[in-house]
Amino acid sequence: MANRCGDTDVRYYFWQLQTNTMRIVQEKILVIGACGQIGVELTTELRRLYGANNIIASDLRDEHELLKGTGPYVNCDVMNKEMLHVLIIRHNITQVYLLVAIFSATGEKNLGLAWHINMQSLLNVLEIAKEEKLSKVY
Ligand SMILES: NC(=O)c1ccc[n+]([C@@H]2O[C@H](COP(=O)([O-])OP(=O)(O)OC[C@H]3O[C@@H](n4cnc5c(N)ncnc54)[C@H](O)[C@@H]3O)[C@@H](O)[C@H]2O)c1
Repeated sequence: MANRCGDTDVRYYFWQLQTNTMRIVQEKILVIGACGQIGVELTTELRRLYGANNIIASDLRDEHELLKGTGPYVNCDVMNKEMLHVLIIRHNITQVYLLVAIFSATGEKNLGLAWHINMQSLLNVLEIAKEEKLSKVY
């Protein structure tokens, strides 16, 4: 009968623990739309959880005052797929939070624009995620 608590099991347990810990430490997260209402809060909390240098904040506009000096920031238009792709490769990104959206009154006033931005930004991120084998897209 196999010894379920033998040396092999213990070594396997520690190997798994080490591997999982390394994976957590190595996550590099890109927040797109980081200067928005949700983005500022989310980026701040992710930096607290994963370490400032592992969270790359990005947005179309200039860096939000509350994010200045708290970690890496890159100006990027999510509609520019090539630029986004380079950004993801250059920073070894493993996860993406996509917060860019045209919604509420702005979206209702211009449905075509809302559809274009919301759908194309998602497609850009999903296609790059597939190509670069990102672990998670939110
Ligand atoms: N705010 C809320 O209470 C709330 C609640 C539930 C869900 N959400 C969802 O969360 C997401 C973010 O909402 P929010 O309130 O933070 O929106 P927001 O409008 O405050 O932020 C969106 C950010 O995206 C940026 N952006 C716009 N176009 C861009 C582009 N082409 N490239 C890069 N960045 C661009 C804007 O500059 C802005 O900083 C949306 O999907 C929204 O539906 C928001």
